[in-house]
Amino acid sequence: MRFDIWTGKLPAQAVDCIVIGAFEGGELGETARTVDAATGGRLRRLLSRGDFPGRQGDTLLLPDLPGVKAERTLLVGLGAARSFNRRAWRRACTAALSVLARTRVRSVALGIDPPSSEPLGNYYFGRAVAEITGAALYRTNDQKTGRKPPPPALTSVSAGPVSASGAAAARRGLAHGAAVAEAQKTQRDLGNLPGNVCTPSYLAQQARQLARRYPSLKVQILDEAAIRRQKMGCLLAVAQGSEQPPRFIVLEHRGGRSTRDPIVLVGKGITFDTGGISLKDPPTMDEMKYDMSGAAAVLASLQLAAELRLPIRVIGLVAAAENMPSGRAIKPGDIVTSASGQTVEILNTDAEGRLVLCDALHYARRFSPSAVIDIATLTGACVIALGAHHTGLMSNDDALAEELLAAGRRTDDRAWRLPLTEEYAEQLKSNFADFANVGGREGGAITAAAFLGKFTQGMKWAHLDIAGTAWQGGAQKGSTGRPVSLLADFLIRRAGAGAED
Ligand code: BES
Ligand code: MN
Ligand code: ZN
Repeated sequence: MRFDIWTGKLPAQAVDCIVIGAFEGGELGETARTVDAATGGRLRRLLSRGDFPGRQGDTLLLPDLPGVKAERTLLVGLGAARSFNRRAWRRACTAALSVLARTRVRSVALGIDPPSSEPLGNYYFGRAVAEITGAALYRTNDQKTGRKPPPPALTSVSAGPVSASGAAAARRGLAHGAAVAEAQKTQRDLGNLPGNVCTPSYLAQQARQLARRYPSLKVQILDEAAIRRQKMGCLLAVAQGSEQPPRFIVLEHRGGRSTRDPIVLVGKGITFDTGGISLKDPPTMDEMKYDMSGAAAVLASLQLAAELRLPIRVIGLVAAAENMPSGRAIKPGDIVTSASGQTVEILNTDAEGRLVLCDALHYARRFSPSAVIDIATLTGACVIALGAHHTGLMSNDDALAEELLAAGRRTDDRAWRLPLTEEYAEQLKSNFADFANVGGREGGAITAAAFLGKFTQGMKWAHLDIAGTAWQGGAQKGSTGRPVSLLADFLIRRAGAGAED
């Protein structure tokens, strides 16, 4: 996809289609008014006849408007003018691109004005346009054998209006956004793959492939024997019930003036979570193929850092295993020793994510990181607390937490912080080991983080619980690509790579 900013007047753009917005009640935005004027008021006449309701998601493709150079004009509903916000703007852009993806339109100039009430800034305007385009054109990597609709013809998207002084920042945003969209595709494809394809070894292969593609990436894969040498007793405990051997992935990006203190990203890579002996209920268990979404987000983020050649050092760690019940599986009451030396009583084999993560977090220590961020589909409790809208964020460092929250706000990939005070860790008391792997139903998202906190002391650490945000269930079942956009913003800003505006 080619992205650019259009300059001059929208009706004069030499493209296959221009896109403008109309509010409920027929009001036109600023850019749409320039098109109306060029057509001698045709749009207003159409709207005053009540032929376009202007509700969010409504679209109308108009051919050959006089005064418009493009052969097509797409009218998109923006909903009520009073409540027009960034979310409505995003939805309007998505609706437009989804419609165009089903036409033969190859080039489009988008002219939906973003809301003045929630300004984006030029850079983030560009980022958003490119990411929205990537998401709207994404096709699931399914295994359906029927005839597929032809791939979208769209190869060029130009966006506006952007002031002459803001064009450079907006173009930079578009370039970054295009790379983020590619990373989100990586994340979504990995998530959507079934558990019989996307195994721990498959994740390792994908990391190897990324390292082949990008010279700045180095990969190291620890197999079962190497994992044992690292004394990762908790990761091994989860893996022991499965026929699939575990893998521990170390994927490192060394950018330009790479520093000594890297950012370490840690991903939960449970390629299928049956719950183990503490077996899950059958309904929606298939969705536990998404339990490696944290791992996918880490690989995607490393891809992004490499693609944008960010001048920082980033290390991705993935603890990959399959959580299965079998004659060799861990049982409630089993006690295992983590790589840190601390012992854990496994009271529930379905709380396996924290077990694989704790050994990975301990491994992070050797890099003396400036920040450690783990990303995990960790708890159903987080979904109950925050639903599908906010990623749960818990941290032992206020500045790091705020940095991540701000990244989420700027990219509309938001997180919400939950408290992580010391009382929660007390719920993990065990009579037989240093602590248990579960802390009861109350505050379940936080006690999970408190468990991880036992392994991150002295490091600046944040935990992103993406159980509610990484995929959608139901009719729209599929990976969302979250929180790649948030992480991308965090990394780009840490690299000082020009997200100024
Ligand atoms: N992968 C699940 C968390 C999950 C559940 C994500 C549902 C999304 C939807 C995790 O391994 C898990 O099973 N957690 C348990 C923890 C409990 C046993 C303390 C949970 O949330 O029920
Ligand atoms: Mn589980
Ligand atoms: Zn899990």
